[in-house]
Amino acid sequence: MASNKMWAGRSETATAKIADDFNSSIAVDCRMFKEDITGSMAHAAMLGAKGIIKPNEADEIIAGLEGILSDIQSGALPIDMEAEDIHMFVEAVLTERIGDVGKKLHTARSRNDQVALDTRMYLRAQANEIIALTRTLALAIADKAEEYKEYIVPGYTHLQRAQPISFGHHLMAYAMMLLRDIERLKDARRRMNVSPIGSCALAGTTYDTDRYFEAEKLGFDSICLNSIDGVSDRDFCAELISAIAIEMMHLSRFSEELILWSSWEFKFIELSDEYTTGSSIMPQKKNPDMAELIRGKTGRVYGDLMGILTVLKGLPLAYNKDMQEDKESVFDAVDTVKMCLEVANGMIPGMKAKRENMLKAAGEGFINATDLADYLVVKGLPFRSAYKISGRIVARCIAEGKILENLSLEEYKEYSVLFENDLYEAINLRNCMEKRTSVGGTSIASVQMQVDYVRETLK
Ligand code: ARG
Repeated sequence: MASNKMWAGRSETATAKIADDFNSSIAVDCRMFKEDITGSMAHAAMLGAKGIIKPNEADEIIAGLEGILSDIQSGALPIDMEAEDIHMFVEAVLTERIGDVGKKLHTARSRNDQVALDTRMYLRAQANEIIALTRTLALAIADKAEEYKEYIVPGYTHLQRAQPISFGHHLMAYAMMLLRDIERLKDARRRMNVSPIGSCALAGTTYDTDRYFEAEKLGFDSICLNSIDGVSDRDFCAELISAIAIEMMHLSRFSEELILWSSWEFKFIELSDEYTTGSSIMPQKKNPDMAELIRGKTGRVYGDLMGILTVLKGLPLAYNKDMQEDKESVFDAVDTVKMCLEVANGMIPGMKAKRENMLKAAGEGFINATDLADYLVVKGLPFRSAYKISGRIVARCIAEGKILENLSLEEYKEYSVLFENDLYEAINLRNCMEKRTSVGGTSIASVQMQVDYVRETLK
């Protein structure tokens, strides 16, 4: 039986059912129906304006496309999952509805430039949404940092208690990461916003088209200047997933800390009941499932990135059907990061810090030992000698089950005559935190400055 496919030029027999199913991408690309239809409207308008089709034909096509768009949106026109892809579906319905004039729409274009166009338009809108969600999270973190800027907590290196810091300072590190994520997303969006339409199959066209007309109508900043690149380039997918993958890595590190901090071992924070779960067997449990899932889903986004890079790496120019696989990975990455951000945006405002537990942990780990050494430096000792003395005092405290604050001045004097009563001020945890007034340091004023900076930047 002869094929009735729109693209059946030379074939004598129809394709096998399983081949059709295998070839079909409608289940994935149907979400681009709006971009496909508005792209086609701009194309029809250009064809009409340039006299490639008659102006009244362009109008008929545009009116037909408008009808299809509103019918899909209202649910009156369900998308046929038996169609090959969204481009074929829209064109088939158009011709069904307005007759032969609908067949003129595909003049001076190809599905190759059409799919590149639709995907860029869809993803630039998605990039905007991810940026907005990221902004909300950065601001929520800044609010928490301001609320908890006076809470003293151990700062860690090697997951060993290191120096006293403000809990707000620790939180603000994540806000800074999110600011960079927003920059990366904006950058990816900017490079993506270049119109491929008019590249046609790969070589451009003999028709007197106006690519700038279409690009401008569709909100692009410029057009691709090489038609082969126009249909072959999927950098914008790889770049967006890569920005998302880095952002997921940040969300995952944050989640890991939320999980640690809400454990019984730390007890630094409590997440709200709305964003934790219980156990079906252990009644005492409050599990940080949401944070764990964000951490877990980071893995699949890395998979999406590897997927797209691997699909593209061996492809000869120009279009190859392998490229149809681009959408599954990039859509998955987009959907995943949006979901994770929405959950984080719900979870963070309800996070409660436990001041006493933080202070207790800060008091137990000799995290003021650096300040003890610095005290002797101020009194004139070279840092290396001061460091040694401070180390010996810590060792003694550990042996005697004491902390630095417990030793008497007489005991301190056994190690150095430079010790005076003001040493206790110097090793007071709050003072240790507050003295770190260097720009970007952990003093309360510095934390507030960071909070103000993030709010100002995100205005
Ligand atoms: N569904 C296809 C894709 O997503 C559209 C482009 C098809 N082009 C072609 N020459 N078969 O890549």
